[in-house]
Amino acid sequence: MMFHALLCAVFAAAIELSNSNAEVSLMIEPADRKLLVSEGEQQKLVCKAIFPNKNDQVIWQLAHNQDGNITLKIPEAELVDGRYKKTTEVIFLKFSAAYAGKYRCTYIPFGASSPTHTSTIELVSVSAQRSDIAYNVGIESVSLYCIFSLEDAKFSQWLKNNETLEKGDKYDILEGNHSLVIKKLAGPLVLDMDDSIDVVEDDTVNIDCDVKGWPIPEVEWWFNDEEKLEASSFVSFEEYEGVKGARLVLTGVTFDYDGMYECRAYSAQFNETSKKSIKLRVKDDLFWLWPFLSSVGTILGVLLAIVLIYLYLKKIKREM
Ligand SMILES: *[C@@H]1O[C@H](CO)[C@@H](O)[C@H](O)[C@H]1NC(C)=O
Ligand SMILES: *[C@@H]1O[C@H](CO)[C@@H](O)[C@H](O)[C@H]1NC(C)=O
Ligand SMILES: *[C@@H]1O[C@H](CO)[C@@H](O)[C@H](O)[C@H]1NC(C)=O
Ligand SMILES: *[C@@H]1O[C@H](CO)[C@@H](O)[C@H](O)[C@H]1NC(C)=O
Repeated sequence: MMFHALLCAVFAAAIELSNSNAEVSLMIEPADRKLLVSEGEQQKLVCKAIFPNKNDQVIWQLAHNQDGNITLKIPEAELVDGRYKKTTEVIFLKFSAAYAGKYRCTYIPFGASSPTHTSTIELVSVSAQRSDIAYNVGIESVSLYCIFSLEDAKFSQWLKNNETLEKGDKYDILEGNHSLVIKKLAGPLVLDMDDSIDVVEDDTVNIDCDVKGWPIPEVEWWFNDEEKLEASSFVSFEEYEGVKGARLVLTGVTFDYDGMYECRAYSAQFNETSKKSIKLRVKDDLFWLWPFLSSVGTILGVLLAIVLIYLYLKKIKREM
């Protein structure tokens, strides 16, 4: 009897032993050894543990003390097919460099003082800076770039919802720094211009054309609807609001410059043109005298009339 009991105990112990070795599994997801996490992003680490005894422990060792930005989710173990399953989570609400480091999910069998199984992930902080998002009429492009300093890492790809982004109509990946530019296609649009602009002879004048659209349209300037303006010593083009050639600069204007200036923005992507025009009025530099001169003229005219009437009346008197 005694012998039988002993045998049973040894048998039970043997099963216990094989359970603790073979039936423990511990896995962190994402299943990367090293994970780059953008600053400010939310990140979740999940540890899936399967083990034989209800009272075994699954414990996270964090690289940073738990604070308001780290949430731990530790549910009760569930019994599934005779084994216990526990899925614990570490959630970073807002990741930052302070939380970088090694995170370990450990398994400690009941009664043991140290872990028998450990799964480790290293979090590396990446500061992903996002440029200002400009929501203008008809144009919207956002650029994202990552700056990271890691000896053993190089740029591989941009992912959106776990799908690789390719260079093309919607995205651009810049050479060198691998910045991602998100492009939103929009047809060309020239915003309204003033009706007219007054300039004085010899002045230099800038005419700005507010052009929207993506890809950025090509801009041409036309004079009186018939002549396409080309750069010369009097005519030049500059960038305006990020659009090449959207500012027309006329130097030393003469009366020949008087007329309609049209800004035409063409998008090859859309095969569309948008245009607006403005009237340029050139005045000589004495133009401010004109109202004055014309009133002087009126007075002289009246005086002349009076003199003529006086002389006429005098003549009539003499004849009578
Ligand atoms: C959470 O992170 C933000 C910035 O990343 C920090 O300003 C804040 O103090 C953190 N909150 C806690 C409770 O640690
Ligand atoms: C992302 O995609 C890869 C391969 O396409 C896959 O192995 C991985 O499980 C996916 N991750 C998520 C979180 O969907
Ligand atoms: C990345 O490179 C492009 C030119 O290739 C430059 O225009 C852009 O400013 C750069 N971005 C950063 C964040 O350095
Ligand atoms: C652009 O549109 C014009 C008509 O507006 C058409 O004649 C021309 O063939 C088009 N060009 C292209 C490249 O589609």
